[in-house]
Amino acid sequence: MYSRKDRQLNETRKIDIRVGTFPNASGSAVFAFGDTIVFTAVDGPKPVLPKHLEDQNGLLIRFKYDMLPFSTEERAKLGLNRRDIEISEVVKEVLEGTIIRNKLPRLMVDIYAYVISADAGTRTAAINAASLACASAGLPMYDLVCALSVGKVGDSLVADLDKYEEDYEEGATDMPVAWLLKEDKILLLQLDGEVSYEEFEKLLDLSKEKAKQIHELQEKALRGKYESKS
Ligand code: CDP
Repeated sequence: MYSRKDRQLNETRKIDIRVGTFPNASGSAVFAFGDTIVFTAVDGPKPVLPKHLEDQNGLLIRFKYDMLPFSTEERAKLGLNRRDIEISEVVKEVLEGTIIRNKLPRLMVDIYAYVISADAGTRTAAINAASLACASAGLPMYDLVCALSVGKVGDSLVADLDKYEEDYEEGATDMPVAWLLKEDKILLLQLDGEVSYEEFEKLLDLSKEKAKQIHELQEKALRGKYESKS
């Protein structure tokens, strides 16, 4: 039976959140699950360039995810690889599901996520941080998005796998999930590995329970930012 020394199987790593970190960005946030740390910033809303991409019906969202060279043991190459492009695309879809785009027609935002330290779970940390950065930029949103990986390490169901667990030699399954809790909607669900249907249902429940905790911490961090300004 797989067990953890530092936390219970159903616990996330220590979560650290900063909002409004970069004063020259319209909105910004940092989100950490333990040693996985992601910086995000929002530029805009602003006029669409090139102009032919303008959408009469809503805000155009561009999202870029990148891992900085010093974020992993093996130096990542500068520039986007296929994985970065895939993550950029899926996270952009998550943000399109949470920003009320029709309130900002003919405008665009650029949202950037930089992984400065990677220990698995970077896409979910990027989603949590980007959602806070958008809220701090004042973008109209249905709710904050709350994401984490759940999965299976050996025979045990767990929340928030770290890199050691993702690479566990007896086998591991990684299932990143992003919740829009207010609407009871899942905006992202990926599965790398295998689980039974019964395990899948348990993991979904676990992800929702942990998403609620993340939501509380996100709200606290956002409130902290505005209270410290007033
Ligand atoms: O980070 P996330 O779990 O969302 O995505 P992944 O593709 O499952 O990657 C898991 C982890 O592998 C990353 O968080 C990094 O710790 C590591 N990784 C790496 O060291 N170098 C890469 N080029 C890609 C991933």
